[in-house]
Amino acid sequence: MAQTLEAIKYKRGDLQILDQLKLPHESIYVVIRDSKDGFQAIKDMVVRGAPAIAIVAALSLAVELQSRKSHDESTPTKAREFVHSKLDYLLKSRPTAVNLADAARKLKEVVSVEVITGEEVFERYVQAAEQMLVDDVQDNKNIGNFGARWILENVTRADEKIKVLTHCNTGSLATAGYGTALGIIRSLYAGSNLEHAYCTETRPYNQGSRLTAYELVYENIPATLITDSMAASLMGLKGIAAVIVGADRVARNGDTANKIGTYQLAIVAKYHGVKFVVAAPTTSVDMSTASGNDIEIEHRPGAEVLCVRGPGVDPKGEIDLCCFNTVRTAARGIGVYNPSFDVTPNDLIDAIVTEKGVAVKGLDGTFDLSKFFS
Ligand code: MRU
Repeated sequence: MAQTLEAIKYKRGDLQILDQLKLPHESIYVVIRDSKDGFQAIKDMVVRGAPAIAIVAALSLAVELQSRKSHDESTPTKAREFVHSKLDYLLKSRPTAVNLADAARKLKEVVSVEVITGEEVFERYVQAAEQMLVDDVQDNKNIGNFGARWILENVTRADEKIKVLTHCNTGSLATAGYGTALGIIRSLYAGSNLEHAYCTETRPYNQGSRLTAYELVYENIPATLITDSMAASLMGLKGIAAVIVGADRVARNGDTANKIGTYQLAIVAKYHGVKFVVAAPTTSVDMSTASGNDIEIEHRPGAEVLCVRGPGVDPKGEIDLCCFNTVRTAARGIGVYNPSFDVTPNDLIDAIVTEKGVAVKGLDGTFDLSKFFS
C-alpha cells in the first residue's frame, strides 16, 4: 500500500509544502520560512484547498516566530501586536475560503491570555498552530466515516457498491491529510462499498485532473476522469449514487461556496435524483455569513482560462519537466470571466457532513448548522 501523500511537512521550525503547481509531473517540496513565504505560496496556489490554506498560513507564522523567539525581547503586548499584524496580512492572501479567518480568530484568542514575556506569547501561538495540523487529520477521518455511513443509508440500494462523482481536489493535498469529500470516498473504498469514483477535470485550474486523479491513482482507488462538460451525461447513464464535494465556505443557511462548477453539478444531480453531499470541517462553516449572497468570490487571472498548463518543451522539442509553460488555447482578443468559486443554494444540497456529524434539512426545508457550535 502506498504511503499517504503529505502536502505539508512540518516539524518545529521547519515547514515544507509540496508544490502543487508542479504535480502530477514532479513532487518537489518548497521551504516556507516565514509568513511572507506563506502568503505568496497561498496566493500563487502552490498550496490550495481551504483547510490546507489555513494550516500553511498558521504554520508559516509559527516558523517565523520560532526563529524570533530566542532573541525576542519584546513585551507580551508587542509580541501580540506582531502576531495580530502578521495574521491580518495572511488573511489577505485569498478571500473566499473561511478556514483561514477562523484559524486567525482562534490564534488571536490563544495569544490574548495573560503571560509574563513576549516569548511565552510566541510559544502559545506555535503550540496552537501545531495542534491545528494534528486536529485536521482526525476531523477529516470523522468526516469520512460520517459521510460514508450517511450516503450508504440514504442511497436507494444500500446493499450494492456505489459509484460517486467528485469535483476539484479535496484530498490529502487540500488538507493536513486524508481529505474531506475525498476522505468520504476513501472511507467508502476502505469499507468495500465503492464501485467506482469519477472525478471532474475542474477547469480552468485542473485540480481534478492534476491532483484528485493523482491521489486516486496513488491510493489505487478505481477511478475515471471526465471533463466538466460530461457530468450530465455521466449522471444520466452511469448510475451515480452521490456527488460529493468540499466547501470553501458554508453560510449559516447552508448555501455553499466551492470550486467553480459545483453549482452546475448540484443542478444536474437534482435533475437526476442523485444525492448531493457537501463535506467540510466546521472550520469551513461561517455562522456570521447569513447566506451565499454575502460570500466574497475570488476572481483569478484570465490567463488560467486562455491557456492550459503543462510540462514545457525545451528548444530541442523534448518534454522538459522543469519548465511549466502554458499553452494558449483561446483566440487572441477574447474577454475572460474567471470566478474561482460559485455558490450552491442550500435547496440543492441533501447533506452537509462535518467532523461533528451530518446536517440535513428539517421539515421547514432549512439546515440547522448551529447544532455544531453549541
Ligand atoms: O482554488 P482551490 O483549489 O483552493 O479550491 C479548492 C476547493 O474549492 C475545494 O473544494 C475546497 O477548498 C475544499 S478542500 C478540502
